[in-house]
Amino acid sequence: MTGAGSGMGRAMVGEFVSRGAYVAALDINMARAVETVEKLEKPEMAIPVQVDVSDPQSVQRGVETIIARWGRIDLLCNNAGILDGHAPAHEVSLEEWNRVMAVNLTGPFLMSRAVIPQMLAQGKGAIINTASTSGFSAAGGGSAYTASKHGVIGLTRQLTFEYGARGIRVNSICPGATATPLALPEHNAASPDMDLAISKVPARRWCQPEEIAKLAAFLGSDDADYVHGSAYVMDGGWLTAARDPF
Ligand SMILES: NC(=O)c1ccc[n+]([C@@H]2O[C@H](COP(=O)([O-])OP(=O)(O)OC[C@H]3O[C@@H](n4cnc5c(N)ncnc54)[C@H](O)[C@@H]3O)[C@@H](O)[C@H]2O)c1
Repeated sequence: MTGAGSGMGRAMVGEFVSRGAYVAALDINMARAVETVEKLEKPEMAIPVQVDVSDPQSVQRGVETIIARWGRIDLLCNNAGILDGHAPAHEVSLEEWNRVMAVNLTGPFLMSRAVIPQMLAQGKGAIINTASTSGFSAAGGGSAYTASKHGVIGLTRQLTFEYGARGIRVNSICPGATATPLALPEHNAASPDMDLAISKVPARRWCQPEEIAKLAAFLGSDDADYVHGSAYVMDGGWLTAARDPF
């Protein structure tokens, strides 16, 4: 589980542990990963691991730590992600573009690349990539965020094509506005008026990270054995709006 120190990642760690799974809580921020584990009812079921998903060596070290601990990896959740500054494309520096791409798109690639050999050896595994409604539409982020999330859905489809018949199911989750530090207005002063957006979404409320975690639990389970390559939308109807929700 990457991005396990906050928001959806933290909720997913809790959900998976409550279902009896051993979970590695990966985050670039080790203190937050430790906090996630300490808050669990059964902290002995999880280990915090410091990993920067955009750094191939850090990813390799992290995956080796997990395999050394449990000898297998049944599920990889590529959940870590960062928002961009919502600036129009002509004002976006290459550094900003690369920073967002490195975490949101290169990260899931590097993590998958490191974990897939283990899953192939097991003959079974599942990968869940957290994309976004921004994988389908504009306006939820800036150009880098939107392009990265479209890319995550593409990566999901390509990995499905390459590994689906070899026992690895790959799916993506596309959350709408979810109440986490990443999306809540006080976190990002430059972000659009989320309260206005929420007032137009059919569900008329934020999604809670625990709801996304339950979807991840389904997609990671054998109940989803026939679900391959999906971009599973959980957005309260956000994408059904024909108009700009902002
Ligand atoms: N919150 C939303 O409304 C929303 C909507 C759609 C999609 N998403 C996506 O959901 C995912 C989780 O977001 P969230 O809302 O829980 O965010 P969050 O900010 O609460 O948590 C993200 C976590 O990722 C970690 N992280 C950042 N860079 C990292 C790196 N390089 N390596 C490892 N960990 C790193 C952070 O330390 C943080 O703990 C992201 O991919 C985000 O793009 C969020």
